[in-house]
Amino acid sequence: MSMITIREVSAYVGQEVTIGVWMYNKRSSGKIQFLQLRDGTGTIQGVLVRNQVAPEIWDEAKLLTMESSLYVTGMIRQDDRAPSGFELDVTSVKTIQVAEEYPIAKKEHGTDFLMDHRHLWIRSARQAAILRVRAEIIRAIQMFLDQKGFTLVDPPILTPSSCEGTTNLFHTKYFDEDAYLSQSGQLYAEAAAMALNKVYSFGPTFRAEKSKTRRHLIEFWMIEPEMAFVDHEGNLEYQEQMLEFVAQSVLQNCQTELQTLERDISKLEKIKAPFPRITYDEAIELLHREGFDDIQWGEDFGAPHETKIAESFDKPVFITHYPTEIKSFYMKPDPKRPEVVLCADLIAPEGYGEIIGGSQRIDDPELLAERYEEHSLSKEAYAWYLDLRKYGTVPHSGFGLGLERTVAWICGLDHVRETIPFPRMLNRLYP
Ligand code: 4AD
Ligand code: MG
Repeated sequence: MSMITIREVSAYVGQEVTIGVWMYNKRSSGKIQFLQLRDGTGTIQGVLVRNQVAPEIWDEAKLLTMESSLYVTGMIRQDDRAPSGFELDVTSVKTIQVAEEYPIAKKEHGTDFLMDHRHLWIRSARQAAILRVRAEIIRAIQMFLDQKGFTLVDPPILTPSSCEGTTNLFHTKYFDEDAYLSQSGQLYAEAAAMALNKVYSFGPTFRAEKSKTRRHLIEFWMIEPEMAFVDHEGNLEYQEQMLEFVAQSVLQNCQTELQTLERDISKLEKIKAPFPRITYDEAIELLHREGFDDIQWGEDFGAPHETKIAESFDKPVFITHYPTEIKSFYMKPDPKRPEVVLCADLIAPEGYGEIIGGSQRIDDPELLAERYEEHSLSKEAYAWYLDLRKYGTVPHSGFGLGLERTVAWICGLDHVRETIPFPRMLNRLYP
């Protein structure tokens, strides 16, 4: 007899199998017990008929409570009425543990309660579906970058200086020195691109932001490709191709999950390159036309601005050429117009906001040194980064995709807190 998982049942129709499962629900008449079983790979209904099993099996099954763990043995039967298409005619159960009363009941719970029980909440069909889509998005991105000849490099988490400004740095001691948790692996990815051409990093990044919005996490995961000999326009092309590949992969490989999440897949089917591009100047004009009179040239967009801009498009939209003043020190100014930089934020549709930030990088050592002065960056701490421009500088570009915001968008979720197994947020470090 084979020990299988629920996702494999279609290959075992008519055969007797054993599956390790948790019971997430049970209905029972006097003669039949319907066991709703899950094993993390899928769900199946087990049907236990009183006069077809030994009395001790019937009695053992009766004791099972919600989330009890067991090995269930039975015959796989195709059943078109079943949501999964299959049922299990149970011949035997072997209890591993009769679970204590499960705290997450069928009734509606508040968000705080669910977040306090996140370690159990992830067992729910909806949460498990999100985590599977997350894994598929990661897999698709890595596959895309792999096919394009990128090499994965792992930047350090503990860093001596900042990448994205000092306002939201997490400080820690590094023996006698000061250290900070990485806000972005970009600067290290740039060094690696000079060694390996096209690289990407994928890892956790940290922002000590006192923001309590549906888009902000304190710890989030970023995918950061960095490419030697690629300019601003080339950078955008990689981004739109990558997101098309991600959307198509999820549509293809996560049909069940998208169904569980009740995602409107027609929205995802539209995610095809090329994506529209508008300049920051055009975005400001658009906002003024739409009645956002408050925003002035030189100011950064907030969430309501991004949402309004996105409403004009059914694909993600690039906003390019932001004012130099409001962007990071490393971005290359437009040679024709140095008051703006060769950068783009990619704004997702449906109000999900900025999912990618990227730019062409300054390649001129003198200009970079000037920026150190203007941004009061320590010459010593950033000496190695300037070296990259002294020893064979080349035009190069890169971007950072926020994984959780991307998952929220692809899954159609209200909040990024459900996109990561254990979210770190303002006032939330447990569990
Ligand atoms: O725009 P950001 O700050 O860009 C960088 O860090 C660059 N160094 C990336 C690069 O060019 N290699 O962050 C990039 C993306 C954002 O577009 C957003 O999707 C996500 O990271 N992000 C956050 N996601 C969740 N919570 C937060 N607090 C985030 N901050 C940024
Ligand atoms: Mg940004």
